[in-house]
Amino acid sequence: MSYSIIDGKAISAQIKEECKQQVLAYKEKGIEICLAVIQVGADPASSVYVNNKKKACEFCGMKSLSYELPEETTEDELLALIHKLNDDPSVNGILVQLPLPKHIDEDLVIRTIDPKKDVDGFHTQSVGALCIGQPGFVSCTPAGIIQLLKRSGIEIAGKECVVIGRSNIVGKPMALLLLRENGTVTVCHSRTKDLKEVTKRADILIVAIGKPKFITSDYVKEGAVVIDVGIHRNENNKLCGDVDFDDVAEKTSAITPVPGGVGPMTIAMLMHNCVASYELQN
Ligand code: GUN
Repeated sequence: MSYSIIDGKAISAQIKEECKQQVLAYKEKGIEICLAVIQVGADPASSVYVNNKKKACEFCGMKSLSYELPEETTEDELLALIHKLNDDPSVNGILVQLPLPKHIDEDLVIRTIDPKKDVDGFHTQSVGALCIGQPGFVSCTPAGIIQLLKRSGIEIAGKECVVIGRSNIVGKPMALLLLRENGTVTVCHSRTKDLKEVTKRADILIVAIGKPKFITSDYVKEGAVVIDVGIHRNENNKLCGDVDFDDVAEKTSAITPVPGGVGPMTIAMLMHNCVASYELQN
């Protein structure tokens, strides 16, 4: 079967361009949108993500404030900074890069961010709002996957959607978003009994397992759409996903590559959320 490759790089560029135009329109009204990015410690992977987020702000014409705090920062110090940013009307979005050092309670930190500035969509209020269909921020990776599907002309309503993975950042909000789009949704996880039996029912299969090349063609129905959230680096420094692309692609109607699929969408949706944050606050 011939399949199409869902081009996350192109779709994310399109979304960032739209954000840039919206930011420009605000600028003409004298409004500047500002994202505060906080990193605690110097984890190299986190530094790469944080830098990419700052670069995306620059591309879109947004202001970014950068707080690079030492590993020894106390929980109270971090909470005090978040309170200060919550109270600052010139700051629209607040992002605390995860993971945090072990001595800091991550849940408490997320809960402390004003839900109106929670551009990551991790606050219990944001998740609750998503759950009952009220306005609020949506976690960037799953929101990006919905955009990949919609902008590739893939209908969700009425489809069998199977999500593998139940994390708070991807799996759970992904299931809620697919449900909001009127998909019939099943969530699988490490305790699912016959995983293959379930995934083979999927018209749309979203894979967020965290194991390189775990999903082979025998997990996939002929003509399914496969979205790969995984990202791993093999021994030759080459990137791969949770899906064995070379084995699976021919069986699909559309599939995301790694790199260049879901990955670039997260930051594009963060930019989207930053623009939306101004609207939510005013
Ligand atoms: N760490 C890994 N992914 C993310 C993300 O999307 N947001 C934040 N804040 N931290 C992360």
